[in-house]
Amino acid sequence: MRTQAIRIRAHGGPEVLERTEVEVGEPGPGEVRIRQSAIGLNFADIYQRRGSHGPHAATVFPVVLGAQGAGVIDAVGPGVQAPLHTGQSVAYFHPGAYQAVRNVPAQRVVPLPPGISEEVAGATLLRGLTAEYLLRRLHAVKPGEAVLVHAAAGGMGVILSQWARALGATVIGTVGSEAKMDVARAHGCHHVVNYRTEDFVARTLEFTGGKGVSVVYDAVGKDVFLPSLDCLRPLGMAINYGTASGDVEAFDLQRLHAKSLSVSRPTLRTFIADPADLRRGAAALFDVVLGGQVKLAVGHRYALADVRRAHEDLENRATTGAVVLVP
Ligand SMILES: NC(=O)c1ccc[n+]([C@@H]2O[C@H](COP(=O)([O-])OP(=O)(O)OC[C@H]3O[C@@H](n4cnc5c(N)ncnc54)[C@H](OP(=O)(O)O)[C@@H]3O)[C@@H](O)[C@H]2O)c1
Repeated sequence: MRTQAIRIRAHGGPEVLERTEVEVGEPGPGEVRIRQSAIGLNFADIYQRRGSHGPHAATVFPVVLGAQGAGVIDAVGPGVQAPLHTGQSVAYFHPGAYQAVRNVPAQRVVPLPPGISEEVAGATLLRGLTAEYLLRRLHAVKPGEAVLVHAAAGGMGVILSQWARALGATVIGTVGSEAKMDVARAHGCHHVVNYRTEDFVARTLEFTGGKGVSVVYDAVGKDVFLPSLDCLRPLGMAINYGTASGDVEAFDLQRLHAKSLSVSRPTLRTFIADPADLRRGAAALFDVVLGGQVKLAVGHRYALADVRRAHEDLENRATTGAVVLVP
């Protein structure tokens, strides 16, 4: 069958996103075919479009962008076992998501429990799984700790802040505008700093009585990473998990010495390479959502055909929360 898709044939700005049609066959061994109702837009899609997500192998064009979505299974390939079956609502994390109907390896797919909609899962699964490993595995947040979340009103930020608070942490969030301060407060932040107008290091130390935070969750990168080290308490960890403002510049490792700090630059792929970890991470995410500790909402909806506008809004810092593309 033919299906609508968005692909790129060269790296560049939003103008390289092209509407096209591609052929989708029957699912192969170990695959399911999904008729998508929601495709999640992530900042990583922008890195992929620009070609700035390195270092990795050269891109082979054309590429269908996107990494996550949700919908209903409309066919299963040979060898696919229960619990996956035709007619089931699922979400997944796998490259090539900007496509109305597509085949996905069953091992990358999770069934959606009652109470988790396709729209919410399609928009947030990747971020929710990322929050799970950042808060529970890379650094396990403990009650009473203080944590700093940069871009706290963004798609990742609203999940991290709510979940960290539910784990008993005091959450300090930074945001890039006055309007986003309320969004961050409404999503778990005890304290919010506008880092475009205020000194976030001084404010973080003030909020923590001079002690500093145990962990910094930073997906802004270049503009904030090095000053963030000054926000940490002894034995603290700075986690740079994204680079919305650019890559972190080289720095002297001796900066970590005086307070025995650690630094990490992780990726979700490592933490869910084992399908059992993907299922465990999704189960933990669905638990906190169904339990009411983490509210996952879709902030913005765009038709898949309007993908250029969606990219422009995300990279111009005009969105809050999760963004979904509707085929
Ligand atoms: N490593 C992993 O495993 C992993 C997995 C998922 C996502 N991520 C990363 O998480 C980050 C957040 O992803 P998201 O999709 O949820 O995006 P998002 O947070 O909704 O959007 C990015 C935010 O970064 C802030 N920002 C600061 N400087 C910026 C600049 N120069 N240009 C654009 N934005 C800037 C903006 O918030 P303010 O206006 O408030 O500053 C913006 O809203 C991305 O960097 C992504 O790569 C990493």
